[in-house]
Amino acid sequence: MTGPGRLAGKVAVVTGGASGIGAGTVRLFHAEGAKVVIADLQADAGEALAVELGAGAVFRRTDVTDEASIAAAVDAAVTEFGRLDVMFNNAGIIGAVGPIDRTRTEDADLTIAVNLRGVLLGMKHAARVMKVQRSGVIISTSSPAGVMGGVGAHVYSAVKAGIIGLSNSVAAELRAFGVRANVIIPGAVVSQMTADLVAGGADDLAGAQEALDRSRYMSRPLQPADVAAGVLYLASDEAAFVTGIVLPVDAGMTGAGGPSPMADEKYADQAGRREAGRRVGADDTPKEF
Ligand SMILES: NC(=O)c1ccc[n+]([C@@H]2O[C@H](COP(=O)([O-])OP(=O)(O)OC[C@H]3O[C@@H](n4cnc5c(N)ncnc54)[C@H](O)[C@@H]3O)[C@@H](O)[C@H]2O)c1
Repeated sequence: MTGPGRLAGKVAVVTGGASGIGAGTVRLFHAEGAKVVIADLQADAGEALAVELGAGAVFRRTDVTDEASIAAAVDAAVTEFGRLDVMFNNAGIIGAVGPIDRTRTEDADLTIAVNLRGVLLGMKHAARVMKVQRSGVIISTSSPAGVMGGVGAHVYSAVKAGIIGLSNSVAAELRAFGVRANVIIPGAVVSQMTADLVAGGADDLAGAQEALDRSRYMSRPLQPADVAAGVLYLASDEAAFVTGIVLPVDAGMTGAGGPSPMADEKYADQAGRREAGRRVGADDTPKEF
């Protein structure tokens, strides 16, 4: 890094910061001058990341479903580093999978507890500090599954949609306190979560890379650092007036859909279409596609 960094002087808490998108964000935040509390269930990976980054990074074992635990992670930012500028509610699980009629209710409850209740608790305790401070930004991780059907598990989709409603509602309240709230939507990113789904297991990141490469939307599969770049923007003062938004960093998965059949080269020299399949121009006779 040259210069003071885009987050110089800022303090962040990153839930789910020991792995994947969270760990990528911790690294980028730290490189950009922020002090970071890595808040995660995984102690070994979280401690190792804090040790690797050195000064300005601490690990706090945190369970986002436990209010006292997440409150302690927020308090650690204040006691260790003096303030809280960025709360990244990113911890998440896929949770309940399978057909709706066979959904295991206990799995559904855990999915809601981690992915929605955990985000709510992160917002609640971050807001407790940020409202008094009269500044800060809360960023929460949704998913393409939160805005479209057919790409994620049922309960996961529901709670990822819930995060958007919650964040926008909170943004409306906190604006008056100089506090922003935004959502990030990562596309399919190479991480332990996706490795568990599309490769040989959670630790098979190479397999996930390969599988996502085959189904890719762009020239290469998304990496945690690609999403972290979007989170950094939302966290930085460059986004000082950006609140109540949903930022997809998803290679166009939500906004641009799949392949673009009507842009195929085979149509390049064909006349435009008008009513009932007729074509614009001299030759109005419908033709076979
Ligand atoms: N990878 C993707 O393709 C993708 C796409 C869209 C959204 N997301 C979302 O991005 C976020 C990060 O996912 P990832 O791909 O980096 O997965 P990941 O599994 O690599 O990381 C998730 C982290 O959250 C932690 N965590 C889980 N439950 C927790 C709890 N109760 N308390 C504290 N920490 C907990 C895990 O220990 C892990 O370190 C999740 O919210 C996920 O739903 C991921």
